[in-house]
Amino acid sequence: MIPNTTERVLVAQSAVFDEQAVSGAVAAGIEKITNASSMEELKAIKTQVIGADSAMAQASKAIGSLPGDKRKEAGKLLGRLRADFGRAFGAKEKEVGRLEERRELEAETVDMTLPIRRKPLGARHPLSKLMEDVEDFFVSMGWQISQGPEVETEWYDFDALNFGPDHPARQMQDTFYVKGNQARDAAGFVGSNMVMRTQTSSDQVRALITRGVPLYIASPGRVFRTDELDATHTPVFHQCEALAVDRNLTMADLKGVLDALAVAMFGPEAKSRLRPSYFPFTEPSAELDLWFPDKKGGPGWIEWGGCGMVNPNVLESAGLDPQTYTGFAFGVGMERTLLLRDDINDMHDLVEGDVRFSKQFVMGE
Ligand code: DAH
Repeated sequence: MIPNTTERVLVAQSAVFDEQAVSGAVAAGIEKITNASSMEELKAIKTQVIGADSAMAQASKAIGSLPGDKRKEAGKLLGRLRADFGRAFGAKEKEVGRLEERRELEAETVDMTLPIRRKPLGARHPLSKLMEDVEDFFVSMGWQISQGPEVETEWYDFDALNFGPDHPARQMQDTFYVKGNQARDAAGFVGSNMVMRTQTSSDQVRALITRGVPLYIASPGRVFRTDELDATHTPVFHQCEALAVDRNLTMADLKGVLDALAVAMFGPEAKSRLRPSYFPFTEPSAELDLWFPDKKGGPGWIEWGGCGMVNPNVLESAGLDPQTYTGFAFGVGMERTLLLRDDINDMHDLVEGDVRFSKQFVMGE
């Protein structure tokens, strides 16, 4: 406890000049210094010998109350004792400083002869990298990335996309139906069966309802079909859907985006071509073909995906007026893109997860 002013004066007045105590404390201090080996110890000794509660401090305070002739002598004595202590302290402080520095350096020494940790590094799967590249392409055009759920209502996967109730794609041989309850969807839709989405097109009407128009989105993600795994099929694969809905969009806009995507994925000479086809959710619809200079000789047109102008019925499913809005959409398979681009011959390589396969793609990341 800190004494108040009056108490402090009393303490000062009651301080005595005890020469023996001071020189004893200094001698003891110097003795301890000899055996000290750390800065911490030195600091503690210093506090004991010349700190605020030390005999030295007491004596210094008491000097004032000594008779004149004694005062000078006492001052000299304290000065000498302080100097003795200071010399011993200073010398030891230097020594301990050097010692501690050496200890630190030794602790930080790196042993260059130790064996390295032979933990093999993994490699990102080329498909993950491709998905990111595709997302980057759309984001660079100012589009949004949208991700719908993998367990989806049959309504979003089929009905809202103008698939009739008897459309063959709904049959059990294509679609994984999910047992159990009917859907209670985020957008408020109740009463549809649940499926594992068979296409990322299932995100079209969901995005139109939740995000509104004008809408420019890409929906990359996993889709599911009851296919056996073989060299060209896998029951779980990836697609990227693109959907633009706005006023005055035409097929020329669609073609422009497709060519730009072909170049981004397959190099500056790549281009796209449309062939008339049919999809329930686009009208007109087209097969999307891709051309790019093939390393193995003979460039050719290869089927890459599907596309078209959004069917008015789909716009109506989302509550939009097809007189006011038009749109285009396309979907490409990601595994297919990778097989084509990197000349991979077997789907097994893509799904087996052998790190030696992935490592071949690490360069140029
Ligand atoms: N969803 C289709 C499929 O999985 C691909 C597709 C075709 C997407 C035409 C589209 C489109 O957006 O317009 O086979």
